[in-house]
Amino acid sequence: MINSIVQNDIAQSFSQAAKSYDQSAFFQRIAGERLMERLDYFKLTPKHILDLGCGTGYFSRQLTKRYPDAQVTGVDFAQGMVQWCQQQSQSETYLCADACQLPFESNSVDLIFSNLTFQWIEDLPQLFHELNRVIKPNGLLLFTTLGPDTLYELKQSWAAVDDYKHVNNFLDMHHVGDAMLSAKMLDPVVDSEPVVIGYQRVTELMRDLKNIGAHNLDQKRKSGLTSPRQLKQLEQHYQQFKLEDGQLPATYELVYGHAFATEHQAASGYHEYLLDLIEQQA
Ligand SMILES: C[S@@+](CC[C@H](N)C(=O)[O-])C[C@H]1O[C@@H](n2cnc3c(N)ncnc32)[C@H](O)[C@@H]1O
Repeated sequence: MINSIVQNDIAQSFSQAAKSYDQSAFFQRIAGERLMERLDYFKLTPKHILDLGCGTGYFSRQLTKRYPDAQVTGVDFAQGMVQWCQQQSQSETYLCADACQLPFESNSVDLIFSNLTFQWIEDLPQLFHELNRVIKPNGLLLFTTLGPDTLYELKQSWAAVDDYKHVNNFLDMHHVGDAMLSAKMLDPVVDSEPVVIGYQRVTELMRDLKNIGAHNLDQKRKSGLTSPRQLKQLEQHYQQFKLEDGQLPATYELVYGHAFATEHQAASGYHEYLLDLIEQQA
């Protein structure tokens, strides 16, 4: 589990990004739209939907449009994002909570939709255990996350400039599948595809990452400002990846996953679950 100081750090960074997020979230929008398309594969008439890690609530609102009879709840642990969502729309409910400790009864949700949130969560077995508890038996978990090839051009270019870590490490999708299995979720499936966003300058990519609140978690991250000389070096090293049209690529390894909740786990009551937690922590 990411320690609470780092978690607060991430939540604060996303809270501060609430106003600038949508104007820089090109990749996040593409990923979420492709995830929405995947809902077509499943025959669903959900009554209660969670948009987990809802950010500015764009996809929470899309889910309301797609399933007008459902109650959509957007959950995010960044208070600033939750407040932003509440100002944008009253058709959904928005709550500030950690995805690993959800304030919902067991067996209470038909569908959990989550776009690009799980890469921020270190303890995936605990996360999937919690989601399996909350989703009704045979209800669906559908998500995207990021794989290790994400932003490899930026990572390699920075490695030629200094020894700090500038880009987060992301888990291989097989670990994500294993974590779903260890939480006893049913029929887990993962696949991935590269998505490339073109930029004129590396600084534009860095500005987008800052605007969406994507914070480098690593203890070895650089704390001071980047000098103009270092930025120039970075731009120079990044040129090796230049595309034929002259743009600089930022590659994301977009990982898709889904699984169904099991009878077995979901059958235990919320209070029993809390008692189990208390027992574990005693
Ligand atoms: C990259 S944004 C994606 C936002 C939105 N799903 C979208 O598609 O635009 C990731 C979001 O996940 C939230 N988040 C990260 N870790 C979380 C956690 N443990 N519990 C709840 N939300 C979390 C962040 O605050 C942020 O708003």
